[in-house]
Amino acid sequence: MTLQFNDETFRDDYSFFNSERAIKRFPFPFHEDSYMYSVNMEQHRGGPVDSVYEKRFDVDEHYVSEMRDRAMVLADDPLRCQSLPHMTLAGWDLLELIMVSKSEDYPDLFELHRDGDKWRWINRPLGIDHSFTFLDETTLPYGPMEYITRQAQGDYAVLDQRDDNLWMDAGMITTQADWSLDFDIGMNFFEWHAPVPLAHEKGIFVRALKFLLNIQQGAPARRLNWTMTVNPLLDTSPENYHKWGIQKTTLTPENLGAKQHLRVELQTFFRLPRSNALVFPIRCYLCSFQDLMSVPKWGRRLHRVIRDLPDELATYKGFIDNRPMMLDYLAAFDDGLLTSPGI
Ligand code: HEM
Repeated sequence: MTLQFNDETFRDDYSFFNSERAIKRFPFPFHEDSYMYSVNMEQHRGGPVDSVYEKRFDVDEHYVSEMRDRAMVLADDPLRCQSLPHMTLAGWDLLELIMVSKSEDYPDLFELHRDGDKWRWINRPLGIDHSFTFLDETTLPYGPMEYITRQAQGDYAVLDQRDDNLWMDAGMITTQADWSLDFDIGMNFFEWHAPVPLAHEKGIFVRALKFLLNIQQGAPARRLNWTMTVNPLLDTSPENYHKWGIQKTTLTPENLGAKQHLRVELQTFFRLPRSNALVFPIRCYLCSFQDLMSVPKWGRRLHRVIRDLPDELATYKGFIDNRPMMLDYLAAFDDGLLTSPGI
């Protein structure tokens, strides 16, 4: 189908919106009435037609506006994109992966023409038609990772693999749920996960790392994660906490349905061919409570999940203070019916 791109903002007047199609394909993350961390990994081998899982890199109606927002974040704070010197080859691997995937999966939007190392990349939604030499940085306006991730929705952490661990040695991080690339750069898997409650003692990170170290080329994996955001903000970084943290206090029973958003991350994992690095794209989907409530089984389930979520998780995810107000709102959509497992 031909995509219509929304003209919208994720700041100031917050004109972000989801079409009916976007609500229908929203990756609602709860397959039962309660939630706890787990090693919820599965193969990333496509999914139902028009779902967010169908393509390797989902492109949706928010694409053009999200890329505009990313450019604004980078103009304010260039440290949201960093690549340690040994990660340049991984950046080229990532550029290739995204260009090949997008041109194959969305041929009406993207084209890639390759003649040896002479490449031509056409990105129609962003109006780009660029010829360059593969592996020659001087032929791109930015480093390869920055160049391609300025044209790809979601954040990208690029991990070097050595000493049986993963190291956050590069990334483009502008749409994150309250963590900082500048703080985490150079850390390993256990170090950057240190603030997460309850999961370490359940052995989740030891098992997750084992899985990730063994991901092979051509066999990507995925998982969902979620949190809550007041207003449809993409950039909820610690660097800008002084701007968005205070907005959590603006919630009222009257505006909650429109302002409170469920924030879902579709996280994927791809092995890169030349560098053996692992790339971790984190694609953020936002949906307001009032839009979620248009699907009765989501309303019912969200109420129960939020009600029964351990305090440690509600605190870490930053909504413990607003939880009572959220529950008052959600209770009206829970008719007490039994739900069956599955989304
Ligand atoms: C949170 C990165 C893979 C589970 C986080 C955070 C970061 C991160 C930066 C935020 C920590 C903070 O509060 O500062 C990554 C990267 C990964 C990866 C780069 C890929 C290599 C995984 C995997 C799992 C996992 C495979 C599987 C269980 C979690 C959980 C949280 C978390 C449960 C807490 C999220 C929440 O409650 O909102 N991760 N992660 N991560 N990560 Fe990962």
